[in-house]
Amino acid sequence: MTRERDRANGRGRAVGGRLNRRGFLRRSTVGAGLMMLATRARAQEAAPAPATAPAVPKGTESPIRVGLVGCGAQGRVLLEACMPIPGIKFIAVCDIWPYNLRYAANYLTKFNHQPSSHEDFEEFLSAGKDKGMEAVIVATPDIWHSPYTVQALKAGFHVYCEKMMSNTVDGARAMVRAMKETGRLLQIGHQRRSNPRYLHALEKIMRGNMIGRVVNAGGQWNRSIRGSVDLTWPERYALPQATLEKYGYKNMREFRNWRWFRTYSGGPISDLGAHQIDIFGWFLGARPRSVMASGGSDYFKDREWYDNVMTIFEYELPGGDVTRVAYQVLTTTSAGGGYYETFMGVDGTLKVSENEAITRVYKEAHADWTEWIEKRVIRPIERPDTIPVSLSQVSLLDVRATADLDAFELPVEMAKKPHQPHLENFFDAIRGRAKLNCPADEAFESEAAVFKVNPAVEARKQLTFEPADFEV
Ligand SMILES: NC(=O)c1ccc[n+]([C@@H]2O[C@H](COP(=O)([O-])OP(=O)(O)OC[C@H]3O[C@@H](n4cnc5c(N)ncnc54)[C@H](O)[C@@H]3O)[C@@H](O)[C@H]2O)c1
Repeated sequence: MTRERDRANGRGRAVGGRLNRRGFLRRSTVGAGLMMLATRARAQEAAPAPATAPAVPKGTESPIRVGLVGCGAQGRVLLEACMPIPGIKFIAVCDIWPYNLRYAANYLTKFNHQPSSHEDFEEFLSAGKDKGMEAVIVATPDIWHSPYTVQALKAGFHVYCEKMMSNTVDGARAMVRAMKETGRLLQIGHQRRSNPRYLHALEKIMRGNMIGRVVNAGGQWNRSIRGSVDLTWPERYALPQATLEKYGYKNMREFRNWRWFRTYSGGPISDLGAHQIDIFGWFLGARPRSVMASGGSDYFKDREWYDNVMTIFEYELPGGDVTRVAYQVLTTTSAGGGYYETFMGVDGTLKVSENEAITRVYKEAHADWTEWIEKRVIRPIERPDTIPVSLSQVSLLDVRATADLDAFELPVEMAKKPHQPHLENFFDAIRGRAKLNCPADEAFESEAAVFKVNPAVEARKQLTFEPADFEV
């Protein structure tokens, strides 16, 4: 099983190819050491990534038949987000832990889905195929993303896979290659890419040049130790040791708390940071050219991954300017206002979050935003906020000016659960009605930045990005 997983993760395999990214320079570079790749594989990888399936003629649509593998916390969140979406039917669920598998099957039954339940992934795929399954949602721990996604794509299914794409960079590359080789859709679960608030902020504020030249950016995911405590399990539902080992888990504690261990995950900077580091590249329309980072096991002593990580990225903008990005993940304090990303322009600052209550735009005193208010890009708020301390610390703004910056909000209401629009986009793409908002090749470019942070912590120096880091 381990060998099989390693093979699918792409360990020890020669890789090469090229990436596409909307709005970016197209590059085609094959690293000197990677030339041994077979001609056939190169030709397949050169094909453009499919971002949409052929259109289904209106009036002939039947429900899209879907299966879920990984019925834990996020699997449940995704099921809940799927329930309001019309025209989808869950027909199979898969999990190695009967405790969670049963929950998912019971939950779906309440909504008139009748899924079959499977421990074994191949059996799940084969049962799904017999019942006309078209799409698989993968919400297992990161270590299983690449093997399962590659297998599902090769079996002909479209896949929605959670972030991080993989616990290894080669595992993520294997996923992009499988997407291109099979022509199936592969959406990665960076759900902010379909969030109307983020789309509005990108289109109107960033691309509209409302806040001027963005000299600095930043962000954080700070959460208290309560959000980071060890997850437990009902003792009588512990998995047999043989089952744990069959799927690569050392024991029940690591199985439940896989995020903290190097075998299964990249730790908090990967687990939480992947969401936000994705936004920096996407909003700036740029790749990082370097990263320095510091991290450690500052509080939790019995875990392998760093509980606190601070990073500084340099992003090189298309015109040659640089934006410095200070980003941190702290799992020992919720101080500083939770999780958000900030883009600090010379005329104002955008602070955007999945949390609507802390999404704000701050105007510098010299800027005139009458036009933007009239165009309903922003809306004045009744009770101006005080600017968060962390923002004034990392910005170059004058301290006296920060005290009374005018604050605005975005006129975007989002009644749906945060993952619903991204799942809708996936199903719309299967129906040929939309392009994927986060196809695997774009996600890989973004996650390449994340994959370098832990090595930067270990190296204790600034690491630079090479073009090959972003290539498949
Ligand atoms: N997009 C988001 O906002 C978001 C939020 C949370 C988690 N996630 C991602 O979702 C994924 C799952 O995270 P989680 O918090 O639900 O973890 P979890 O531990 O709660 O759930 C994982 C589930 O996968 C099952 N599982 C483990 N190995 C398996 C295997 N080989 N085959 C089948 N089932 C297996 C477990 O039994 C468990 O039910 C992770 O990749 C995580 O990064 C994304």
